[in-house]
Amino acid sequence: MRTKIVAGNWKMNKNLEETEALLAELAAKLPDTRAEVVVAPTFVNLSTAVNHLENSIIQVAAQNMHFAEDGAFTGEISADMLLNIGVETVILGHSERRSLFGEDDELLSKKVKTALVKDMKIIFCFGEELEDRKSENHFAVVESQLKNALFGLNKADWKQIVLAYEPVWAIGTGETASPEQAQEMHAFIRKTIAAAFDAKIADEVTILYGGSVKPNNAKEIFSKPDVDGGLIGGASLKCNDFMEIVKAI
Ligand code: PGA
Repeated sequence: MRTKIVAGNWKMNKNLEETEALLAELAAKLPDTRAEVVVAPTFVNLSTAVNHLENSIIQVAAQNMHFAEDGAFTGEISADMLLNIGVETVILGHSERRSLFGEDDELLSKKVKTALVKDMKIIFCFGEELEDRKSENHFAVVESQLKNALFGLNKADWKQIVLAYEPVWAIGTGETASPEQAQEMHAFIRKTIAAAFDAKIADEVTILYGGSVKPNNAKEIFSKPDVDGGLIGGASLKCNDFMEIVKAI
């Protein structure tokens, strides 16, 4: 049985007071669930989140990190800094990091390696652009994103990896991949991993879908056999919406 996960990527939203208010509401309203629930507030509020959620099963993730141990990297955050405040999960490769901050497969592969050395859990994001899908290159693009960042790993490393397929054209646009499109890609991802590693790893890795998941479409998307949950942006900023999505798993 694969681990089900619903993760909220808060992006650059919520100041301290808003963060505290949303965390309190989430902790109070979290329904009984078989899923792991994760929230990723902005860096400056991670400590607050860890403290607030001390007695909750909700986990805290960072939205990014640097690959270096420490040093002259102005404005960056290291794995040890995250671990030191109790954050053991990191989102890497989000499409906004790729497109707005120039993170490419080579850089992401370094970040993945560091996170693994530090024994962190990684939510690794990838997905094709609209152009890729229109030109029917989406499978090739996804395969190369996975290959370049993850296919150099050892088999044992996969225990720490969660995949998040996020077609760029569906992020923040209100346009969702259809449940069939999500299923088709998730099945392809498993097939690709089985070929590069083995069937057991492919079968056991949790693959989330992300891109305009909302309370009204979550159930149908999550009902697909290869979809193990979601990475939620906009809808994770409202407690009731996020809780409805958690209930949908
Ligand atoms: P969205 O964002 O749910 O607002 O589309 C998803 C994401 O960026 O992870």
